[in-house]
Amino acid sequence: MRIVITGGMGFIGITLARRLVADGHDVALLDNLTVQIHGELPWVDVPEGVTIHRMDVRQLTDHPEILEGVDAVFHLAAETGTAQSMYRIAEYVSVNELGTATLLQAIAKCTVKPRQVILASSRSVYGEGAYVSESNPEHILQPAPRTKEQMLKGIWEPTDNRGANLKAVATPESLAFAPGSVYAATKASQELLLNSAALALGFRSTIFRFQNVYGEGQSLQNPYTGIISIFFNRARQGRDIPIYEDGLESRDFIHISDIVDGLVASLEADLPPGAVMNLGAGEPTSVKDLASALLNAAGLDVATRVTGQFRVGDIRHCYADLARARALIGFQPKISLAAGLKRFCDWAAGQPIHVDKLDSATEELRKKGLTN
Ligand SMILES: NC(=O)c1ccc[n+]([C@@H]2O[C@H](COP(=O)([O-])OP(=O)(O)OC[C@H]3O[C@@H](n4cnc5c(N)ncnc54)[C@H](O)[C@@H]3O)[C@@H](O)[C@H]2O)c1
Repeated sequence: MRIVITGGMGFIGITLARRLVADGHDVALLDNLTVQIHGELPWVDVPEGVTIHRMDVRQLTDHPEILEGVDAVFHLAAETGTAQSMYRIAEYVSVNELGTATLLQAIAKCTVKPRQVILASSRSVYGEGAYVSESNPEHILQPAPRTKEQMLKGIWEPTDNRGANLKAVATPESLAFAPGSVYAATKASQELLLNSAALALGFRSTIFRFQNVYGEGQSLQNPYTGIISIFFNRARQGRDIPIYEDGLESRDFIHISDIVDGLVASLEADLPPGAVMNLGAGEPTSVKDLASALLNAAGLDVATRVTGQFRVGDIRHCYADLARARALIGFQPKISLAAGLKRFCDWAAGQPIHVDKLDSATEELRKKGLTN
């Protein structure tokens, strides 16, 4: 197949590209190599035979030939920092929404349109994800985003409208959009744009909502996203690991190799138009437990510090219901968290050490009133 990956030099894109090339596909990457992800002197190990278009996705309308007659486009190019999206609003909307619109407009110009467009969306579109109350465990609720005032009082767990505590359960795709950050709103908008253009333009749209993806190749220099990379980069420099809230907030961590399996499976599967699927491990891990497991896998001994700090826009819990991905593409994660962390640490230990920018990024958020 002929395949184009936007954001193809990023963490997920380049790992996907390697797999597709190994499977015998003809792959082209489009990426503008943003400095926040790649540094001033970008260096990515690109597999032989891959075509690279160093270009902003928002310039694609002028280059529809890149998409002419291809079998599939993976649309991954995006700005990805939740907290950063709350103050670089115009930029996030521009890259993520206008970027998607530009891709669609370029497709409209193609004589032979791509057969399938696959979007990397995010669990962030759900906001807090699915919860139930003790009194009615069958009825799924979706709590409102936590306010800054609640978090300043140390009220971390979402509650129902009578103030009763709730329990997080696996989040199904049927949950409504409830974005709690500008980043999340742009991902929801990307989904709407893609699905609304697909019918008119005659391609099959497929949407994946990733949980927290980690693994070999994730940027070690972006202080805004990728908690495992951020923690590792600090720990290897002997610096302690600050853990937000009370450390019991949880995420669903999924190894890059499982994500790539899911993406590749969507090329061959007999999918209905506009299919939307969660991809995650399907289980929650608290950030406190994650930090211990990471230090264990890395063989590093630094202190972890629960700070009571929070970031506006962060959710408390969300993990994936995988039933639909299982049914449609046979998705089954294979890499356990312990095995995935070991693979990540073995890779990351051989990478250059980067200046730790977490404290300056946090200070930037504090100045903007987005953290305490
Ligand atoms: N990594 C995760 O945990 C995760 C979770 C949910 C969703 N996603 C989504 O998956 C996709 C890929 O994420 P990733 O983790 O590989 O991120 P990444 O930051 O490593 O890669 C994104 C790539 O897009 C490129 N890019 C940014 N702006 C661009 C522009 N204007 N034009 C062209 N290229 C541009 C960057 O240079 C980078 O190479 C994103 O759409 C993201 O929203 C990722």
